[in-house]
Amino acid sequence: MATTPTQGDTPAAPREYVLGTNPAELQRLGFQHRLWSRAAHRLWTRAGIRPGHRVLDVGAGPGFASLDFAQIVGPAGQVLGIDESEPYITFANDQARARHLTHATFAVADAAQLDALEQVEPGTFDIAYCRWLLCFVPDPEAVVAAIARALKPGGKLLVQDYFRYDTMCVAPRSDAFETVIAAIAKSWRDHGGNPDIMGTLPTIAVNRGLHIEHIDRIDPGPARPGTTMWHWPDTFWGVFLPRLAEFGYITPEQHAAFLAEWETLSANPAAYMHLPPMYELIATR
Ligand SMILES: C[S@@+](CC[C@H](N)C(=O)[O-])C[C@H]1O[C@@H](n2cnc3c(N)ncnc32)[C@H](O)[C@@H]1O
Repeated sequence: MATTPTQGDTPAAPREYVLGTNPAELQRLGFQHRLWSRAAHRLWTRAGIRPGHRVLDVGAGPGFASLDFAQIVGPAGQVLGIDESEPYITFANDQARARHLTHATFAVADAAQLDALEQVEPGTFDIAYCRWLLCFVPDPEAVVAAIARALKPGGKLLVQDYFRYDTMCVAPRSDAFETVIAAIAKSWRDHGGNPDIMGTLPTIAVNRGLHIEHIDRIDPGPARPGTTMWHWPDTFWGVFLPRLAEFGYITPEQHAAFLAEWETLSANPAAYMHLPPMYELIATR
């Protein structure tokens, strides 16, 4: 949904999911999953995931991680992916069917109201996974509380998300770049999210009776032009910056200045990018 563009400090902010769920964003999520799947599998292995486990993927998007889970837990296990986006859930269910992963199912739901789903019986999941969800929800406490209820005693909540997203920057430093990063972070906050969610998540988990087992930074290092990691945000600019401009968070001039700067940086072998810091957590019930 578009809002009337304003160029002031506080654009109108609808409570929709800020990134949107169009086909280009779905493709971007697939590329992003590929880039971050090694880190995901490392965390899942650390948490002890194995065949026979029941896994809940909260904010599963089009199900890229969930389908990996389905291969790992096998037909003796079960995977339930939930997301509020109907097109993503349809895509995920179609993929599960096409790949004969019938023990993976997907349902449309608000992450804060997991309990309303009949598939989510209290105390029945071994693993719950949230990647890049909690930074977008207005009530992360409610989501963590619902997940804590769904976990078995000893079950684990696994999260991978941002801490200080707005520290993302490039070398050589660029005002045009940093203006847009600040606008992105503001748009997420205005839509009820928190681009620093990993700063508060451990406290939220402890307050819900979970025990923190592991916290770490996931650091792929600086991204340099020409590498796959350089293209991670590159795909995001293409999908999200027109939306950011449409919402009124950046002017057409700021958008154009950013794209010109990005092109210059991409051709500069001396440039590099400090990626938005990603952290991971394992919390046990
Ligand atoms: C950046 S995507 C990440 C998807 C997936 N977790 C992954 O790592 O590929 C964020 C997802 O959260 C979903 N989402 C946002 N707010 C939600 C909510 N309140 N309840 C359920 N899903 C939500 C969006 O529809 C979107 O699919």
